[in-house]
Amino acid sequence: MILVTGGAGYIGSHVCALLLAMGREVVIADDLSNSGADAVERLEKITGRRPLFCRGDVRDTGFITGVARTYRPECTLHFAGLKAVGESVRRPLAYYDVNVGGTVTLLRALRRYGGRRFVFSSSATVYAPSEVMPLTEESPLGPYNPYGWTKFMAERALLDLVAAEADWRVALLRYFNPVGAHPSGLLGENPRGTPNNLMPRLCDAAAGVTPRLSVFGLDYPTRDGSGVRDYLHVTDLALGHIRAMELLETSAGAHIYNLGTGVGLSVLEMIAAFQAATGIAAPYEVCPRRPGDLAAYYSSPAKAEREMGWKAEKTPADMCGDAWAFYKKSFI
Ligand SMILES: NC(=O)c1ccc[n+]([C@@H]2O[C@H](COP(=O)([O-])OP(=O)(O)OC[C@H]3O[C@@H](n4cnc5c(N)ncnc54)[C@H](O)[C@@H]3O)[C@@H](O)[C@H]2O)c1
Repeated sequence: MILVTGGAGYIGSHVCALLLAMGREVVIADDLSNSGADAVERLEKITGRRPLFCRGDVRDTGFITGVARTYRPECTLHFAGLKAVGESVRRPLAYYDVNVGGTVTLLRALRRYGGRRFVFSSSATVYAPSEVMPLTEESPLGPYNPYGWTKFMAERALLDLVAAEADWRVALLRYFNPVGAHPSGLLGENPRGTPNNLMPRLCDAAAGVTPRLSVFGLDYPTRDGSGVRDYLHVTDLALGHIRAMELLETSAGAHIYNLGTGVGLSVLEMIAAFQAATGIAAPYEVCPRRPGDLAAYYSSPAKAEREMGWKAEKTPADMCGDAWAFYKKSFI
């Protein structure tokens, strides 16, 4: 049995789709604070198999211990968490509570009843701001917002646990910028409130839901002045979790991997890719830089390819086309 916390959410649901298609038994634990129960039906529609579903909060010791005791998962993929950088600045305690406290509560439950293989959703925000690109797993750490610190601390707790108890096997996966959606159009990103990442805002502007896309800063020292990020398709990212799970079947200890394409794309390049993929020229306007945004960052994913045989394959056209197909199906 594989336990997927946050499995009703954006990235977790894509991983569940792969696991179910592989014939694995899956139990999702999710409080649905940022997703809907219909993820279970959608997964069944895509794969012909229905995951088990337990609604509850990973911070709730009684709930998560009950899940671990009932299902005795041999491996846990931990996606449940809060993820909005800006909100983490305004509500730091909520972020530490869920992302650090929730992870510790989950680990305690697994320590008692579950298997000791654990794949953690970390983030490129654990790295210190730098002008030296690409970021490798050896690049200096030093988050610059509360969200990044929560991921840093959860990583630290996991590394310390592996050092103290040799039977734990842990993969820390540092995602860059996941975008896109399932090719079926049934799974994708469903941001509550005003989205602050590029692709949902781009879709809103393309659909006319907002008059135009704000491009924050056109005066960065990049190819065209707009910010550069390492966007990767969510199905590529999902596959990285399967490779990490497989690696933990044979490798002890802690393993850290960047999951990105290794290619930086600018905001203007993404807008152009969106137009090429969908035929829609999303209107945009240039706005001042957002405080805290970096000019450019992108990964070196070489270690993940070398050690796990994982490499992102999908193109910016796939990312934009699939995101738009999901958006049209869900919101128009
Ligand atoms: N999307 C990104 O850009 C990105 C980048 C780097 C890392 N991550 C990390 O990946 C993970 C998944 O991100 P996502 O984009 O799929 O987010 P998401 O919000 O779509 O999914 C998270 C899921 O966890 C659930 N959840 C939240 N708090 C919970 C709690 N206390 N108990 C139980 N369930 C809870 C939500 O209902 C949701 O279904 C998060 O930990 C996030 O920090 C995401």
